Amino acid sequence: SEEELRDRIVDAKAKLGSRVLILGHFYQRDEIVAHADFVGDSFQLAKNATERPDAEHIVFCGVHFMAETADILSTPEQSVTLPNLSAGCSMADMADIGQVEECWEQLSEICASSQDGRGLAPIIPVTYMNSSAALKAFCGRHGGIVCTSSNARAVLEWSFARGKRVLFFPDQHLGRNTAAAMGMDLRRMPVWNPFRPLGDNSAEDYRDAQMILWKGFCSVHQRFTVEQIERARAAYPGVKVIVHPECSFEVVNAADGTGSTAYIVNEIENAPAGSAVAVGTEINLVNRLAADHPDKTVFCLDPVVCPCSTMYRIHPAYLAWSLEHLLAGDVVNRITVDADTAGEAKIALERMLRVHP
Ligand code: 13P
Ligand code: SF4
Repeated sequence: SEEELRDRIVDAKAKLGSRVLILGHFYQRDEIVAHADFVGDSFQLAKNATERPDAEHIVFCGVHFMAETADILSTPEQSVTLPNLSAGCSMADMADIGQVEECWEQLSEICASSQDGRGLAPIIPVTYMNSSAALKAFCGRHGGIVCTSSNARAVLEWSFARGKRVLFFPDQHLGRNTAAAMGMDLRRMPVWNPFRPLGDNSAEDYRDAQMILWKGFCSVHQRFTVEQIERARAAYPGVKVIVHPECSFEVVNAADGTGSTAYIVNEIENAPAGSAVAVGTEINLVNRLAADHPDKTVFCLDPVVCPCSTMYRIHPAYLAWSLEHLLAGDVVNRITVDADTAGEAKIALERMLRVHP
């Protein structure tokens, strides 16, 4: 039963004491969040993974790329467990290293001649945190950097101080939304389709480009529409609409604010009592915020339940099982990034942490 699982987790965690650090993303179920030492957005959790080098084990209640990042940033002695190995991220899976290398080769050929006199590189690769360690390592090798939804703008500013163009993967929406907010021209943001390279664009489009976007998206955030925002505004006059930047450009433009999950949490905490806030992000987070703020009307823009199915795969039974194994001296579902990949990925992650500590 739910209570039994809760008791097993509490018991194993108490016995492990300071030997274990449990990290939980904002999208996790309430029954998981209740046990996390830190709950945060992907940026905060990456930093939290470095803050307890004394903990032998990190149990990451989130998705695969987050656990990989924790392994890269934590000490080599610490183990990182992902309680359910099938908790991936469909967006992160939309760019693999083979596709990115092929894209890089073709774009480098197209753009090489355009190296300018100011010493700027033809292209800087930027990967969203939601990507495999291999992609982060690619960015480390090629003078690039990692960003999250909470620092994408600062990271792009850093990148454009070094390069004429940015190749941004895997989320086209975060790339487009951030670049547009910086005043860049949407017509200079061609989208690279890994299954149809150059298909929808000409070589000239890439030569003229500022932002080269990758044809990736989040299936949860791509569901939000401008019509939903219009309906929310009609039903709740004065409602504040806030959305995650993985939503489409049109949705972000129609909203009153956009930012990472930490931004969304913060906005709702600071909203005045009696106000209404419509949110365009994952339902577990929105429902928890609504329950925590009964004095405000907090609701999800999408009336149909809108969960991240992979985040939801971290069921309390897996957490109990992982902790009990740690207690017995056995690390299950360990996430390890090989040393070469980790070393290069760390370069790109540390660049991000210098730009946005
Ligand atoms: P945050 O960095 O805002 O936590 O976002 C992670 C994510 O996967 C959003 O879908
Ligand atoms: Fe990936 Fe979207 Fe889930 Fe975030 S909400 S983990 S981007 S699938």
